[in-house]
Amino acid sequence: MAVIPSARIAVDIAGAPYEVRIAPGLIDRLGHEVRPLLRKDKVAIVTDAHVAAAWQARVDAALGAAGITASWLVLPPGEATKSWAMLARVVDFLIAEEVERRDRVIALGGGVIGDLTGFAAAMVKRGCGFIQVPTTLLAQVDSSVGGKTAINTAAGKNLVGAFHQPALVLADPDTLDTLPLRETRAGYAEVVKYGLIDDADLFGWCEINGARLIAGDGEARVTAIARSVAAKARIVAADEKELTGVRALLNLGHTFGHALEAETGFSDRLLHGEGVALGMVLAARFSVRQGLMHGQDAGRIAAHLKSVGLPWSLGPLGLACNGRRLADHMLHDKKMDAGTLPFLLLRGIGRTFLAKDVDLAEVAAFLDDELAG
Ligand SMILES: NC(=O)c1ccc[n+]([C@@H]2O[C@H](COP(=O)([O-])OP(=O)(O)OC[C@H]3O[C@@H](n4cnc5c(N)ncnc54)[C@H](O)[C@@H]3O)[C@@H](O)[C@H]2O)c1
Ligand SMILES: [Zn+2]
Repeated sequence: MAVIPSARIAVDIAGAPYEVRIAPGLIDRLGHEVRPLLRKDKVAIVTDAHVAAAWQARVDAALGAAGITASWLVLPPGEATKSWAMLARVVDFLIAEEVERRDRVIALGGGVIGDLTGFAAAMVKRGCGFIQVPTTLLAQVDSSVGGKTAINTAAGKNLVGAFHQPALVLADPDTLDTLPLRETRAGYAEVVKYGLIDDADLFGWCEINGARLIAGDGEARVTAIARSVAAKARIVAADEKELTGVRALLNLGHTFGHALEAETGFSDRLLHGEGVALGMVLAARFSVRQGLMHGQDAGRIAAHLKSVGLPWSLGPLGLACNGRRLADHMLHDKKMDAGTLPFLLLRGIGRTFLAKDVDLAEVAAFLDDELAG
């Protein structure tokens, strides 16, 4: 049997550099991996019920092997868990566990658990340490790295949060074995995103290996996670707090995607990554319409997403709204800056740029045409 590679990537953020370790079987070595970062022989872990059902026993055994006892807080799964109420539960739990500033708590789960636990860690004792152990493809390639933490409020998604970098990220691709296929596909959209941003070679890799990765191939998983994390680390190191516009590149497909998620009520009708997939196709097609890129390139993007079973056109969503309404959702996106709508457009595959002066009426007209099929 071929040996599956592993990778270590440094995220070089001023003041708090940290490492992302990617390796199959990491979860069974968790105790030894985290031991040097813990001051005590106990650790607080936050997770959700799906992840606990699949991995809690393995994690307890792995920690026990290094003499570490875990205290668990198991929360309900789903986006609704990124709430004020659950944030209070996590904070109360960490305080009850007597977590101190120099301690590290573990976030074991997808982006929901990572964002929520990271935010709680940013607040407890004015900021304690935390370790991300991401268990979804989305979290392994995206949300566990970069230090953005948040909850949702009645006014919208991720409106309240903090920048708080983890002390360590441990991504074990084997944990994806229990992840539902639809979630794996959705996370894969973010891998494609890095290719489209500035790495045409990665997009080419995706065209050849994407299906293999989604089907669970170990080598393809490690390659995709490592290349994605390296891309994100590079962008975040250049612009940690999204001030210069470099980090904004990570939002490719997200302005259109966010509008579609909002219109479908942030529900199972459209997972975040599915919205991003559609959003990238729309960004590409809009770029073609603006004369910025060749239709062939937009066709290549749609064809690839379609080939791996991701959404690539608006028709199947069956939206009963017009382009204006979708454009209005974009206005409520927090990325709006002083009344102008910054849009990520493409000059080609791997050539994304931030267009600052996009006319929302043109976007609405474009969306009307897309909705009409
Ligand atoms: N902080 C960031 O930079 C950043 C970036 C992108 C997305 N996000 C956030 O991430 C969230 C989405 O993350 P997600 O897609 O990981 O969603 P998620 O955390 O809700 O996980 C998706 C589903 O998979 C289940 N699950 C997780 N790991 C599993 C496993 N190994 N086996 C079986 N089931 C498992 C979960 O219980 C859940 O039902 C959103 O809230 C989004 O805003 C944050
Ligand atoms: Zn995303």
